[in-house]
Amino acid sequence: MKILFLNGPNLNMLGQREEDVYGKLTLDQINSYIQKKADSMNIEVDFFQSNEEGKIVSRIQESSGVVDHIVINPAAFTHTSIAIRDALLAVKASFVEVHLSNIFSREDFRQHSYVSSIAIGVISGFGYQGYLMALDALDGLDK
Ligand code: DQA
Repeated sequence: MKILFLNGPNLNMLGQREEDVYGKLTLDQINSYIQKKADSMNIEVDFFQSNEEGKIVSRIQESSGVVDHIVINPAAFTHTSIAIRDALLAVKASFVEVHLSNIFSREDFRQHSYVSSIAIGVISGFGYQGYLMALDALDGLDK
């Protein structure tokens, strides 16, 4: 199984960005936890982060037929991007939406996601562990 981990804008700032909301780990540290767990599960993983909507759309398009699943934290684009939703629909990606924070306990504008209704499932509020939980969930799906 191959899984692409996609992260949206400002997630490259983890570790120095609103630590009380998003935790102390950097994205590289989170990705190395994911890599380690994936290795132990015999799952191949790839990582991509961009601050640009178009680059995320292109990466989703390029993943078609190359990966089995996507784990995506679209960050602020969650609440704004029809383009990312359309890209996920276009490639018929089966994906898990992850948020570090519990978006439903935050500002009103964070409580709508353009991608939740087409996701396999949503994990929100467990910090970096959400990405590891997504790995377990996807592994379990194929069994
Ligand atoms: C986030 C939540 C979004 O509302 C926010 O814009 C982010 C991160 C999260 O992981 O909790 O950048 O996706």
